[in-house]
Amino acid sequence: MRIRHLFSQDNHTIRLLQITDTHLFADPHGSLLGVNTVASYKAVIGEIRDQYIVFDAIIATGDLSQDHSAESYQHFADGISGWIQPCYWLPGNHDCQLEMLAVLNQSTLVRCEQVLLGEHWQMIILDSQVKGVPHGYVSNKQLMLLEQTLISQPKRHALVLLHHHPLSVGSAWLDQHQLHNQGVFWLCIERHNNIKGIVCGHIHQALDIQYAGLRVMAAPSTCIQFLPDSDDFALDSTNPGWREISLHQDGTIISKIGRIKGSGFHPDMNSSGY
Ligand SMILES: [Fe+2]
Ligand SMILES: [Fe+2]
Repeated sequence: MRIRHLFSQDNHTIRLLQITDTHLFADPHGSLLGVNTVASYKAVIGEIRDQYIVFDAIIATGDLSQDHSAESYQHFADGISGWIQPCYWLPGNHDCQLEMLAVLNQSTLVRCEQVLLGEHWQMIILDSQVKGVPHGYVSNKQLMLLEQTLISQPKRHALVLLHHHPLSVGSAWLDQHQLHNQGVFWLCIERHNNIKGIVCGHIHQALDIQYAGLRVMAAPSTCIQFLPDSDDFALDSTNPGWREISLHQDGTIISKIGRIKGSGFHPDMNSSGY
């Protein structure tokens, strides 16, 4: 198992910046439903810089590429290259893990399964990708990893990361692409009372709910947004954005969404799918 250790800037609180579903193309002019994804990604990074947001690490929760190209992953790496903080990433359904590992495996870009965060937290990073299909699944190996990491650090609060949403979010079209074996996933989660939160990507919208006694959160995509609570495919006109997550010593999680300003990255609202 690949384990890392991250220390916070103030020794008390760990601050994470979630960037997700960048859907980048090799062609910097490539667009998804009318949105240039490299440009919208850069706009999100620019806004985070302009707001001087303080963070200890980036968490990139999948669908970083739309075309599986090495160049698309290089665009991702280039976007955050000005920051010295590590970026822990995981694959989404749109990613090619071979290309991803080849490119996102340099200096601050890290693929690992367990990150010990300061003295009080750990982050467990799961792979829920099923090659070639949009839905997710956690293999027995991943469930074992989850179990082992939790058992190995019983005194630490835990944050679990995966790409697919592990529960229904009230959109039939999107929920068919959720984590398919969520029953066993939640059985494992509920056996451990030190898990405080789950963070996912995939749904291209802000989500922050309590479920089974813990927090389940998702962030807006850096490109197109899906309309919440819509049974059929529908886009939302909200702006691209990110999520900030603060993990406190006592197990408390403080989190909020940030978005870019203006109207430069609105998708073609008449699109019927993607
Ligand atoms: Fe996505
Ligand atoms: Fe996805």
